Amino acid sequence: MSRTLILAIESSCDETAAAVVADGREVLSNIISSQIDIHTKFGGVVPEVASRKHIEAINSVVEEALKEAGVTLEEIDAIGVTYGPGLVGALLVGLQYAKGLAYSLNKPLIGVNHIEGHICANFIEHKDLKPPFVCLVVSGGHTFIVHVKDFGKFEVIGETRDDAAGEAYDKVARAIGLGYPGGPKIDKLAKEGNPKAINFPRANFHDNTLDFSFSGVKSAVLNYLNKMDMTGQEVNKADVAASFQQAVIDVLTENVLETCKRKNVDKIAIAGGVASNSALRRELTESAAKKEIKVLFPAPVLCTDNAAMIGSAAYFEYIKGNIASMDLNAKPNLKLGER
Ligand code: KG4
Ligand code: ZN
Repeated sequence: MSRTLILAIESSCDETAAAVVADGREVLSNIISSQIDIHTKFGGVVPEVASRKHIEAINSVVEEALKEAGVTLEEIDAIGVTYGPGLVGALLVGLQYAKGLAYSLNKPLIGVNHIEGHICANFIEHKDLKPPFVCLVVSGGHTFIVHVKDFGKFEVIGETRDDAAGEAYDKVARAIGLGYPGGPKIDKLAKEGNPKAINFPRANFHDNTLDFSFSGVKSAVLNYLNKMDMTGQEVNKADVAASFQQAVIDVLTENVLETCKRKNVDKIAIAGGVASNSALRRELTESAAKKEIKVLFPAPVLCTDNAAMIGSAAYFEYIKGNIASMDLNAKPNLKLGER
């Protein structure tokens, strides 16, 4: 039987990406053109700049993905594309490009939810992984605990009520002068610090919810830095990075393990940019092992934004017959499980 080949396109934020994925699990190419250098100058993503850069890059990124995979457009079975959530102008670039291809080639178009894509990165990394499992999605824009009940079937168990985990990393990194994107830099610096040096708050809701809040810990770090500055004391940046990171990891770990208990699930997959954090990987794996729960994570290149994960998600929609119409629009606030 021949393989199903998906050409996938991702442009929801600041990476222009295209990939060719076979049968939802095998990556034939995964091309990512990052705009990080440009946005670093502004300390974060500038939406208007992102859209323009996507337009400049998309054609060559797609061509490169096909070339590296060694397949022609005629051999592709379907075109998968992220249509939300994300920056509307950025999403529209990838979506219009994908629609143009699908229309001119007369191939099916599959609309993909970016968050579902992050979750599906685990299907690429772990060839035998099947639902049910619990997924912790931690990225620059999102923080979710999801009960993945079946392929394409998701129940949101907890989410952030304010900042996303990656956003908190980025803001704290900026406050201690590490630059953008802050996650990898805090990850590195924290290795030299003491995670118990400063006791930053762990948000705790008293209503049985598994939601998160990261704006409190972020403000606590800013207040601490301010206080040290006012009193003329020197800040140990590595201790701040390690203590902040510990506060974030503690709540992520606690809530995801509680979800496994409530849903009677013994497998956790993590996804999104923050899933490449070395301390989160280690500590979650250790804490889960004590409860005989297994933790899976994708390779770092599949954690941060990429199109291979979109190709995987598109495949599972394609085999269910979920084909989009040509009037598919970008949905900047698309919810998980919503079509
Ligand atoms: O998934 P992603 O590439 O984009 C979104 O969909 O948001 O995630 C980017 C986020 C940024 O906030 C970045 O600082 C964070 O992931 N990140 C990390 C690490 N690598 C990337 N956070 C903590 N530790 C890391 N090693
Ligand atoms: Zn993402």
